[in-house]
Amino acid sequence: MKRLPLTRRQMLSGLSASLLLPVGLRVPSVSGSPGNPFQHGVASGDPEQSSTVLWTRLTTTAKSVECGWEVAQTPQFDNILQRGSLATGPQRDHTIKVVVAGLTPGATYYYRFRAGQHTSPTGRTRTLADGALESLGLAVASCSNFPFGYFNAYEAIARDESVEFVLHLGDYLYEYGPDGYGGGIGAQLGRQHNPPREMVSLADYRQRHAQYKADPQSRAMHAAHPLIPLWDDHESTNNPWLGGAENHQPAAEGSWQTRRSVSLQAWYEWMPVREPASDEDPAAYWRHFRFGDLASLVTLETRHTGRVQQIEYDISTLLEMTPASAESFLQDVVGAPGREMLSADMQAFAAAALAESISATRPWRLIGNQIPIARMAAPQLAAADIDYLESRVSSDNLQRAKYFQRLGELGLPLYLDPWDGYPRAREAFYQSCREAGASDLVVLTGDSHSFWQNALYDDTGRAMGIELGTTGITSPGDFLEFGNEGARLMDDRLVASNPEILWTNGISNGYLRVHITPDQLQADFVSVSSILSHDYDTGTLRSLTVRHEGAGLSYAVAGEGTGENTP
Ligand SMILES: [Fe+2]
Repeated sequence: MKRLPLTRRQMLSGLSASLLLPVGLRVPSVSGSPGNPFQHGVASGDPEQSSTVLWTRLTTTAKSVECGWEVAQTPQFDNILQRGSLATGPQRDHTIKVVVAGLTPGATYYYRFRAGQHTSPTGRTRTLADGALESLGLAVASCSNFPFGYFNAYEAIARDESVEFVLHLGDYLYEYGPDGYGGGIGAQLGRQHNPPREMVSLADYRQRHAQYKADPQSRAMHAAHPLIPLWDDHESTNNPWLGGAENHQPAAEGSWQTRRSVSLQAWYEWMPVREPASDEDPAAYWRHFRFGDLASLVTLETRHTGRVQQIEYDISTLLEMTPASAESFLQDVVGAPGREMLSADMQAFAAAALAESISATRPWRLIGNQIPIARMAAPQLAAADIDYLESRVSSDNLQRAKYFQRLGELGLPLYLDPWDGYPRAREAFYQSCREAGASDLVVLTGDSHSFWQNALYDDTGRAMGIELGTTGITSPGDFLEFGNEGARLMDDRLVASNPEILWTNGISNGYLRVHITPDQLQADFVSVSSILSHDYDTGTLRSLTVRHEGAGLSYAVAGEGTGENTP
């Protein structure tokens, strides 16, 4: 296999003054401007053909404050196309959201806000194309966990001029306090979570959103590109379902419905998206983005509108199981009737969107999906693999490796929170896509903190398309507790144990770059060499080309490179 010299040195000596952004865009050091209320930068997103959402937030305690906005064709604002002003206050945490209409499809715009004598940083945004479209560039991101490290991958996205829209698949922020997931590294880096406790109340969620939006690399990404965001679990708390969540204890933390409601309220306040009408369910957040005649992107909601409770493995039961009883467990318990993930409305919306995409003869159908959908059985580990790990990992981690080995022996899924825990729901989704005429899905997936190249099949073995999974912006792969070499071994065994997994890498952080033309989709798995320093490289671990083949899709590897995270 030909190796390509894809690593590119991007020495950055710090972030103090301004990031190197596309022409006309600068992210000023707001900390150097006393009294500047635009501490959280600007953002845009949820685009349509003739409208889009502009966002900012004012750092003030005023009960009511007026904020002006301007949209122009150039970053110099020498020809202002639209302007207006609106008031905000504590009832919406001093956030500002403008839905600007009357825009030209497929056009780039620049925007800024004014409050008193202060002007915000300039943002760049873009509308969706209408009609003929020759190419589309997306960055796909997930799992940006503040304490785990610097958002270098966000900065790389900001600088990536092939990117027109950023699809963030969720875990945009995490709920934990300083003693939770990532807290140890956060303490070392001085990046501990605010507030210094798990977020539960509306005030907590707002404060955490404010912390993430104030990050300079996050501000750079938002200023440079419009966002298409979904939420996954951590925007509320770990592993939620309709009636609760793994990380929600009602006795100490109150009503789950209240917590979910305030988490969504803060999300809508702080994200550049259209807000639900007063008679609409805020949890019902799904979209169909039409990129001209080239591609459809249908986004899913898999957490708060249809999902029944996750099944959890019980260690003592696993020890007693045989492969035959494990098969029965999968059929009768995991695969039981009623184990839904999507609401009926969500599934009907996706099917109708796919049918419209087919009737419009767009060649590409992308699915914005939070959690892995390919079948991922636990890796089958030989005794020699355990011996190899035993010499390298702690006794606790060795026990974890033996747990994975046991799952692998029984042929059980690695995890039951992703679609593998809801096989009936996955099959129902696949069949509704197939009935809509779509068996060429490009499923874009987050959540797992690993890169994935997967092939998708329904229960009868019919091809459903492909899955491209993106790693965490900072959250680490689950096998990294075995070290880089141990993680590589686990990834290799995962591929060998699963016909749907063609390649994976759980070592690196980074993002997925997707470039689409009528004939071909190119996917680049872009890594950052470090998240513990601002001095980092970007590399491309693997490049794929995807083409239509009959009614389905086929992959070809266009290049492999280096640039994994350093241990
Ligand atoms: Fe995550």
